[in-house]
Amino acid sequence: MKVITTVKDMQAEMIQQKANGKTIGFVPTMGYLHEGHLTLIRHARKENDLVVLSIFVNPLQFGPKEDFATYPRDFARDRALAESEKVDYIFYPETREMYPNSPSVKVIVQERTDVLCGKSRPGHFDGVATVITKLFSIVMPTRAYFGKKDAQQVAVIDGLISDFNFPVELVAVDTVREQDGLAKSSRNVNLLPEEREQATILYRSLQAAKESIANGERNSESLINLIKTMITSQSSGQIDYVEIYSYPQLKPLERLEGRVIIALAVKFTNVRLIDNLIIEVNKQ
Ligand code: PAJ
Repeated sequence: MKVITTVKDMQAEMIQQKANGKTIGFVPTMGYLHEGHLTLIRHARKENDLVVLSIFVNPLQFGPKEDFATYPRDFARDRALAESEKVDYIFYPETREMYPNSPSVKVIVQERTDVLCGKSRPGHFDGVATVITKLFSIVMPTRAYFGKKDAQQVAVIDGLISDFNFPVELVAVDTVREQDGLAKSSRNVNLLPEEREQATILYRSLQAAKESIANGERNSESLINLIKTMITSQSSGQIDYVEIYSYPQLKPLERLEGRVIIALAVKFTNVRLIDNLIIEVNKQ
């Protein structure tokens, strides 16, 4: 496994590997790897000749009051995990390598950002789309792997790939969870102990909504209220949003039908958590 820290070296390696006909599976991350990231790596390992993992906490996608400074980092541990998953290259640039000057061009996401995390984190998806555009130009992957835990991110990247004609296949991978249902996240370590216990309510409330749909409920408002009541009564978390949309269009639905996303974000003392379920709702 090679660790590469400069854009120039990474591009030179990739150009050579592609000239040799190798397919490249790319897993972009911000590090502090967990089972969710490792699952993306395993998919990439199975489907490509080479696997590239990037580790870069991208300042452009954090708001001024967000957790850029406290975002967990541990490169030595990440490196050992990547090695054991047979990653071929880690791209691990410093901030000044990725952004040597203040950007003269930024990618602005026009659609699907007026809802969910796009609404509560202004500029976040512009930062994600900008860094992914750069990473695609640096790594030149055949396939890129993203987790459905960040379902809106998957929808935005899908738009980016098709609008900018990147010759990259997007692979979306199911959310990996702890045994008690909490979605794995690098940020979970920043929950206080009592909050870690309460945080299971996020997934349990999504499951309750799913069950209610199975029992015939089709009204968005009622389902949102069911989830909100469960979260506020069983945790100290502050609800940022609970929303239901068509997926991947992210358009509002009064009555549920077809593929829908039920998504939520909840703020705890030092961390904001997100989760979602994407389900097929049949017509009644
Ligand atoms: P990060 O939060 O490190 O996540 C990297 C990738 O892992 C994302 O595609 C995310 O959806 C996926 N992932 C995280 N938790 C997961 C889980 N529990 N199950 C399955 N997949 C999971 O997302 C980012 O970084 C950044 O925005 C990035 C795309 C790297 C751009 O900076």
